Order: sequence, then structure tokens, then C-alpha cells
Amino acid sequence: MDKVTAVSLIEQKKEGRKITALTAYDAPFAKLMDEAGIDVILVGDSVGMTVLGREDTLSVTMEEMIHHTRAVSSVVKRAMVVADMPFMSFQVSPQKALENAGRLIKEGRAHGVKLEGGKIMADTIRAIVNAGIPVMGHVGLTPQSVHQLGGYKVQGKKFDSARQILADSRGVEKAGAFSIVLEAIPADLAQAVTEELHIPTVGIGAGPHCDGQILVMQDMLGLSERKAKFVKEFVNIRKIARDAFTAYVDEVRGSAFPSEEHSYKPSKTKLKVVGDEEKKRG
Ligand code: KIV
Repeated sequence: MDKVTAVSLIEQKKEGRKITALTAYDAPFAKLMDEAGIDVILVGDSVGMTVLGREDTLSVTMEEMIHHTRAVSSVVKRAMVVADMPFMSFQVSPQKALENAGRLIKEGRAHGVKLEGGKIMADTIRAIVNAGIPVMGHVGLTPQSVHQLGGYKVQGKKFDSARQILADSRGVEKAGAFSIVLEAIPADLAQAVTEELHIPTVGIGAGPHCDGQILVMQDMLGLSERKAKFVKEFVNIRKIARDAFTAYVDEVRGSAFPSEEHSYKPSKTKLKVVGDEEKKRG
């Protein structure tokens, strides 16, 4: 079994083999994905919304990212584990970004990091790459800029904004990134970026022409309450899980669970008899 690496993903693009990626935040799901043959597992800062119940990703901390990344990387054998750099862990200075990227690798045991932003992040990307840490870029809809963008909206619909996304993607590649996420942009723009770059593009809401696709795990499992247009639910776990919880509540209340099947055999120590004799003596 060959491990997926930054180098093998670039090869994959050259050979025209699609890259598969999903987000994960814990060991059990990461193990299942790895067994299913996923190429990249992203420990996204989406953990803030999908797991920690927050309204956006902005409050996610380095400590939380390290905690979840460590859980994922501890069980993954084949996939490349990429950890998201949370808001304000890389924007302040390339030096600070390098230190935090290093923590995700050393403490989280990630194989690479992802950070949001285009050309403006070139120095930061370069500093991290120069330290031997693979960097995945992220342009288009960048959720850490939600307040600046005025919401979670499709980007690059107008000519100027499309041109900016193309220039940003080029800048990210030039700075040394091994791959780039394209989020929520028109399919033809994603195609143009994909054809232009040598590094693989991984799309989320960016149409079919990207070199690979990524989805948030909770979205594709049908665990999320709200569904974006680009999300396909491959199963509806929410319904399955809720039905199971309801059945459990009913069975416990009705004394149907646990039955004999789920109980241990009678104790050989005859606790009741011993108890009675002790009562007589005492
Ligand atoms: O945090 C995340 O899950 C992401 C994906 C949407 C690419 O950045």
C-alpha cells in the first residue's frame, strides 16, 4: 500500500486520476475513510460548525485543531492528512504562521497544512514550504473571510472577481503550494484554473472539471441540517441515528432492553443468599 503524499498527488493530476478528499475530525470516521481508499483527509476548521456547534469557523483555536488532527492521524495508514490553519494562526505574520504550521505537524502529526487566501498569502506559503511542510491553498469562497464577503456566497461570478481568483490561484502555485482547494466558484472558472495550474485543484462546489473533489463529511452523510446546492447526500445518517435513539429510549422505558441476550450469565457467587445469611447473623 503506497502512502499518498504531496508528490504523489501531483503525479495523480499528471496521470489524470481524480483525487478523492473528505473532511474528518475523529479517529473512527478517519479510519473508515482510509479503509475506503480516500486520498486526502482534511481536518478542516469546519470542525467548529460540524462538531463543536459554533455558528462559524472563526473561533476555532490551534489547540482544537491539534486535538482533532491528532485523533485523525493516529489511525490513518494510507491517506495524506492535511490540517487546516485556523483563523488568526497564519494571518499575522509568516513567522507566526510557520510556528503554527510546525505545531500541526509536530503535535497533530499532520502531513501538510491548508490555509485560506490567494496571492496575498504568498510569503506565508513560501515560509512554510521552505521549512519542508507541504501547503494546500484555498481560494474562492474562504469561510474565514465570511464577514468581508458578506456571507457564504458563490465567488467569481463577475469578470473581475473571476480574474482575481485565477491570479490568486497562480500566486498560490508560484509560492510553492502542492495543491489548491477551489470553493464555491462557477464550473467554467474552476476548469480554467485547473487547466492553467500544474498543481492539482480540489473542488468543493466548483463543478466536475477539478482534479479532485472534497466534501465535508457531515454534509455527504446527511448529518447537516442545512444543505448547500453542491452537496450530495450519499446516505441520510441523521434519520438512521435519530430512529436508533428513539428505539433505544422506547426499549429502555419499556424494559425491553437489556434482554437476556445483552446480560451476563447469573453470578456464581449467589449474592442474594450471602446477603440473607449475613442479615440473619447480624
Ligand atoms: O474546513 C473545511 O472543511 C474546508 C473545506 C470546505 C475545504 O476548508
